[in-house]
Amino acid sequence: MKEKFFRNRLMDWNRVSNKREMPWKNETNPYRIWISEIILQQTRVEQGWDYYRRFIHEFPDIQSLATASEERILKLWEGLGYYSRCRNLIIASRQIFNEFNGKFPASYEEILSLKGVGEYTAAAISSFAFRLPFAVVDGNVLRVISRFFGIATPTDSARGKKQFKELAQQLLDKKAPGAYNQAIMDFGATICKPVNPSCNICPLQTKCTAYHEGKTDLLPQKSRKVKITNRYLTYLVIQHKQKFYIRKRTQKDIWRGLYEPLFLESDHLLTEKELVSHPLVAPYFSKKVFTIHSVSGPYLQKLTHQNIHAQFIRIYSNELIREIATAFPVSRSKMKSLSFPKIVRDYLNQQNMS
Ligand code: ADE
Ligand code: SF4
Repeated sequence: MKEKFFRNRLMDWNRVSNKREMPWKNETNPYRIWISEIILQQTRVEQGWDYYRRFIHEFPDIQSLATASEERILKLWEGLGYYSRCRNLIIASRQIFNEFNGKFPASYEEILSLKGVGEYTAAAISSFAFRLPFAVVDGNVLRVISRFFGIATPTDSARGKKQFKELAQQLLDKKAPGAYNQAIMDFGATICKPVNPSCNICPLQTKCTAYHEGKTDLLPQKSRKVKITNRYLTYLVIQHKQKFYIRKRTQKDIWRGLYEPLFLESDHLLTEKELVSHPLVAPYFSKKVFTIHSVSGPYLQKLTHQNIHAQFIRIYSNELIREIATAFPVSRSKMKSLSFPKIVRDYLNQQNMS
């Protein structure tokens, strides 16, 4: 039976050949597992590693996280992106603190009820921390299973989700659900990789459908093509003496809760000429309060559904303005302690401004 072959070979590979090391491996503390899995939801293991360490160092348990300031938590998250994960983490920590008396819940259903925890994360925490028999289904799992069994059902269709979930659950080693879940993810990340899978050394090769039919490149299949929009943000980095004008982002949009300089959004990056005649700032330029100091080249940040094109125009102001379009002046050292979108932080770093 192919299922049994798959499970046994995978577990053997895990015991003998899986050398992948990660700070949260063999961890049984549910709080730490939760933190690592939230970080890893949209972040590569190599990138998530240091964030995880810093996070656990500063917030070693639910109590410390649930009582920390949102600003400080967001600061530790700076650069990781997908900030809704961080906001959900804060909400969930308070949920555990209040509804579960500060003790991490120990059932799949309760874990799933936590803000920001979906089926994948609930299965990971349940199996790693509590040895509960729930199979994880993430991109790694979908790839390995679809290739090995030769299943071309789109993984993002309703039918595909059901089919892969059922098969993943059937394949799970119920005696060692945590080890199995970790094994299949590591296997997908190191052997059955998205491109150039290592079929030549793969212990599943003899019964792998995709390998024998030469279809590894064609699996897994997806139906939905996400539409990517382009956005153009011209940032105004306004400086008066040693202070910079920034504001907190409150829109229900990307980067909510982070800080930023003012920006003008348009269907292209603004030229200097367009900028100085923009109604928001034209009066300052015509009265010579503002002068342009420098214009950066274009910056690009690719998010899942949008490409952010940015440009930074550094402006000197010879007057202290109390507030301009909700932006207020802060010192360099204050800037250091606040959390900015990655694209802004990159610019500030390159300018030695923070
Ligand atoms: N991606 C998300 N969680 C993971 C884990 N525990 N091991 C490997 N890859 C992962
Ligand atoms: Fe993946 Fe290749 Fe192994 Fe099949 S033989 S499971 S495609 S690595």
